[in-house]
Amino acid sequence: MYGLVNRALQQLVCASKGEQTWQDIRRKAGVEDEVFMRMDSYPDEVTYKLVAAASEVLETPSPVLLREFGRYWTRYTLVEGYGAMLNDLGPSFHEALTSLDSMHERVALLYPSLKPPTFRVTAVTPDSLSLHYYSNRKALGPMVHGLVEGLAERFGVAIEVSHAYGKDEVHDHDRFDIRILGPVAHAR
Ligand code: HEM
Repeated sequence: MYGLVNRALQQLVCASKGEQTWQDIRRKAGVEDEVFMRMDSYPDEVTYKLVAAASEVLETPSPVLLREFGRYWTRYTLVEGYGAMLNDLGPSFHEALTSLDSMHERVALLYPSLKPPTFRVTAVTPDSLSLHYYSNRKALGPMVHGLVEGLAERFGVAIEVSHAYGKDEVHDHDRFDIRILGPVAHAR
């Protein structure tokens, strides 16, 4: 994945646990890069090794870390200058979820070797919907859970997400059932 992702992970750990903890994680993962270049593409293995090492060092299961990382991503991309892309997702949380593929198409103009996920929205009612997540990568469902929560925060809506199923022998994708509970105080 692009360095932007590994950088975000580094930033999240450094901000919450300190630089020394990050160095422990990096060494445990056997990753030599001290700095990740945003626009350079790294083998996915680097990201997976960092998450596994972080899970050990922080004594936190990987899915919990990935969900936290997903929540952090919307804030991180904003700070990194991608706020306009998030704003262009549309005026509402519902519309944002239906625009994720076109947003990643725009990201791909900047990051040409991007291998983005794809999403599909079904079962839409005014206060609920299902989000289907397709990717060739494995085990990132919890990250999408956090991403959806981060996006909801940004749109100022309180939600409840349930991970209906993950990618397995039966399903070729993950499905999340999302209920919109209403507006929260601190909208974007
Ligand atoms: C402006 C905001 C965003 C930017 C700049 C961005 C950019 C990226 C980049 C660079 C990657 C790495 C892919 C690769 O290197 O091949 C990625 C992956 C991913 N993005 Fe986004 N993204 C944004 C917002 C979102 C949002 C809001 C969601 C979902 C709600 C999302 C879902 C994902 C997922 C799940 C992956 C992991 C790749 C996979 O599943 O195969 N992204 N994104």
